[in-house]
Amino acid sequence: MEVVIVPDADAAGELIAGAMAGLLARRPDALLGVATGSTPLPVYRALAARVRAGGVDVSRARVCQLDEYVGLPAGHPESYRSTVLREVVAPLGLTEESFLGPDGEADDLPAACADYDRALAEAGGVDLQLLGIGSDGHIGFNEPCSSLASRTRIKTLTRRTREDNSRFFGSVDEVPQHVITQGIGTILDARHVVLLATGAGKAEAVALAVEGPLAASVPASALQLHPHATVVVDEAAAAGLARADYFRDTYAAKPKWQGL
Ligand code: PGA
Repeated sequence: MEVVIVPDADAAGELIAGAMAGLLARRPDALLGVATGSTPLPVYRALAARVRAGGVDVSRARVCQLDEYVGLPAGHPESYRSTVLREVVAPLGLTEESFLGPDGEADDLPAACADYDRALAEAGGVDLQLLGIGSDGHIGFNEPCSSLASRTRIKTLTRRTREDNSRFFGSVDEVPQHVITQGIGTILDARHVVLLATGAGKAEAVALAVEGPLAASVPASALQLHPHATVVVDEAAAAGLARADYFRDTYAAKPKWQGL
């Protein structure tokens, strides 16, 4: 696992957008797995700015969703499908045809979950999966004690996650209880996994995920099993890392050609 400590969220956005641009230069039809929530927005802004400046060709890029609320009506502004279309697909000038996501309104949700895992595999797999981290250590909506081998399935959100996400809704009671999420095993299938965390509220979860033991109680610790996992944190989110100086030294000494 590589840990990169950057000064702030904008620097994180630039760094990860640069990695995405490099990937798209090598593989123009790359499948980018995108996350919702507040943390990844600087990445999408930085990538869209590079596209507008003509620095990256996204015309063949494909985008796929990490998770989705169950039961929100079609077109609800806080469904993750609507969010990804608004925050990523539209600003990059992509069409809905380049977008893959699970059906949170399906009558047969287990079938919809299996269909989504199959669709990701048939699309050739995810090239770069961007992740946030919950204050409880979740990735996607894999709450603590999720199976580390899980595939896309239905999960029940913790009270804490519903409270964290209530800022996007009128109240905590309006946050759906159930979600579809790529499983931890599904996430680990991506060729490169990039976890971004910013702010002091994530410091404890980041320290447990990076330096704690591999444990289902900290789902993000599963990235320790991935051969190409990058954790990008700002100074506030890095505050709990005992090896912060080592991570700084390592990144400072990294050959430029290596990229993330
Ligand atoms: P946030 O969400 O970026 O809005 O904090 C992260 C997550 O829940 O994965």
